[in-house]
Amino acid sequence: MNLPVANAGAQSDLANVVLDAICHPVLMVDAKNRITYANAEAEDFLRSSAAVLTRSELARFIPFGSPLLTLVEQVRERRSPYNEYRVDVSSPRIGSEKIVDLYVAPVSEIAGSVVIMFQERSMADKIDRQMTHRGAARSVTGLAAMLAHEIKNPLSGIRGAAQLLESAVADGDRPLTRLITDETDRIVALVDRMEVFSDERPIDRAPVNIHVVLDHVKRLAKSGFASRIRITDEFDPSLPMVNANRDHLIQVFLNLVKNAAEAVGDDPNGEIRLTTAFRPGIRLAVPGTQDRVSLPLEFCVHDNGPGVSDDILPILFDPFITTKQNGSGLGLALVAKIVGEHGGVIECDSSPRGTTFRVLMPAWRGGEHDAAHDEEETV
Ligand SMILES: Nc1ncnc2c1ncn2[C@@H]1O[C@H](COP(=O)(O)OP(=O)(O)O)[C@@H](O)[C@H]1O
Ligand SMILES: [Mg+2]
Repeated sequence: MNLPVANAGAQSDLANVVLDAICHPVLMVDAKNRITYANAEAEDFLRSSAAVLTRSELARFIPFGSPLLTLVEQVRERRSPYNEYRVDVSSPRIGSEKIVDLYVAPVSEIAGSVVIMFQERSMADKIDRQMTHRGAARSVTGLAAMLAHEIKNPLSGIRGAAQLLESAVADGDRPLTRLITDETDRIVALVDRMEVFSDERPIDRAPVNIHVVLDHVKRLAKSGFASRIRITDEFDPSLPMVNANRDHLIQVFLNLVKNAAEAVGDDPNGEIRLTTAFRPGIRLAVPGTQDRVSLPLEFCVHDNGPGVSDDILPILFDPFITTKQNGSGLGLALVAKIVGEHGGVIECDSSPRGTTFRVLMPAWRGGEHDAAHDEEETV
């Protein structure tokens, strides 16, 4: 990248125009953390003109002890870019409640220089939404417990009575008694699905190889609901283990693959793709604490179906949201609950050409292999 440093030539004029058009603050600092460049948005954000900024040290604007300063040091030392999400950069000068995502990268052409881009919220929004999903799942929890008691018990009575009647009624009426038993079975199955939400026991976790889980889900799908759909995969074979409950992870990916298969439908070109990748840069703040967690494991389920309909996208992970005639709308609510319990995050990217569900999870940190992998990936 050709950033304007001293004499502005034609190229740097253009770079200026481009950087000013970006609606996020962009700064460059030199090896001593003096600001050497600020775009128009950065002037706004730091409430100072570029002329003042470029005579100042970064520390003048950023609160003492801010993770940003550490991050800049780290990027300079490692000479590789790093992102940090939900960093509080509030200060009397910048204003209160300034939570930003930071994208920090070294400028290889100018020794020691580092470029910083601030992006207000975005990932923070995702976390808030994640919290909402968990809240929504909790509201199902109480309902599920009530339903189990108030509905399942009477239903078993109704079912038993219908079965008794079956032997007594005339042949012509038998389909009616069968209808009663079939429909009660359907309701019991629905209540059973909801009961998963009321299970609040701590989950048993162990190091799980995600590829074993995904292969299993793929086999289940191919032998059942997705027998005619092409399912491909692209796995990172050196991916560390995930600290998880294997059965719960199977539920997550079975639900995502089932939705993908339903989205693709009978389309002969329909395809589902499972991918895994290691992304060491993804770190999230744990809301309400000073902790930051790293979520380097990325597992995706892509499909080339028609996409999620716009009107449900903002509430996609809420329970009972469905566009299917016989849908329960509980699949994604359960997926969000399980991913949340594992300390992960789920996001959905959708367009009329396809949909991607992206699950980010922390890595299991118990083994030597994992530590070695971390080293080589993050340095
Ligand atoms: N891969 C996908 N492509 C398009 N829409 C999807 C996809 N996954 C989920 N959806 C939408 O999200 C809704 C909720 O999904 P889910 O919670 O699994 O419930 P259900 O499958 O019972 O409808 C679906 O009805 C569908 O409209
Ligand atoms: Mg579903």
